[in-house]
Amino acid sequence: MKQKIEILEQYNDKLSAIYDEATSDRDHPWVAPRKIEELTAPYAKQGCEVLDIGIGTGRSSKPLFKKGCKITGIDISKEMIAEAASKFPEWKIHKQNIEEGFSFLEDKRFDIIIASGALEFVSDIKKVLKNISELLKPSGKICFTYEKLLEESRLQKWKEAELGKGIANPIPELLSFLVYRHTKEEITKIMNDLNLEVLQDEEFTAYHKTVDNIPVIYGIVLAEKK
Ligand SMILES: C[S@@+](CC[C@H](N)C(=O)[O-])C[C@H]1O[C@@H](n2cnc3c(N)ncnc32)[C@H](O)[C@@H]1O
Repeated sequence: MKQKIEILEQYNDKLSAIYDEATSDRDHPWVAPRKIEELTAPYAKQGCEVLDIGIGTGRSSKPLFKKGCKITGIDISKEMIAEAASKFPEWKIHKQNIEEGFSFLEDKRFDIIIASGALEFVSDIKKVLKNISELLKPSGKICFTYEKLLEESRLQKWKEAELGKGIANPIPELLSFLVYRHTKEEITKIMNDLNLEVLQDEEFTAYHKTVDNIPVIYGIVLAEKK
């Protein structure tokens, strides 16, 4: 199924104003940026070039910035970008749908590329990961999360489904864009095909849905360009 890009964009534009508060909620925190920070910490050196795919309000890049990394970001939502830019004017952020490639980055290459909570919205994760891997310097690291396909789950049993499926019925228009899920085996095969060496591969609870407190399970991968 094809992603409904306009609805995805509108949803994130609306979300941007409350994103930081909502994702810091003590009962329902968004854990992915902390996991990205944990796995990339050994490689985050002063002056290293970082690309954040789906940068949002900047939560996933902030720890790397604090360690002296230079941040470039990409996001489809102009309002998310405006939030990030207001807090971090030093960052260079591009408005782009990551499914459409990265030619606007020209010859720029990165030491670390992160994608925290973004790749679940792309219909062809292999193509996007291939394009991302081409932006890495030799021995560069990629660290990304993905939403797991889980047969037993009330929410995550569909390979592709609207964000609201399993919770809301009928699904409101604003939640009708798609989430794409993957097994660990699918992601491992993609890494092998792209010649990326997996250094770490974990599963974690990324957040809980506010409705019925359902846990949402993600995978996180740290890999190196060979
Ligand atoms: C869940 S937020 C994560 C933000 C941040 N990385 C974090 O961890 O807090 C997902 C972000 O990815 C962006 N996004 C989703 N699909 C995208 C696409 N196809 N191209 C570019 N950005 C996208 C959204 O606009 C949103 O800002």
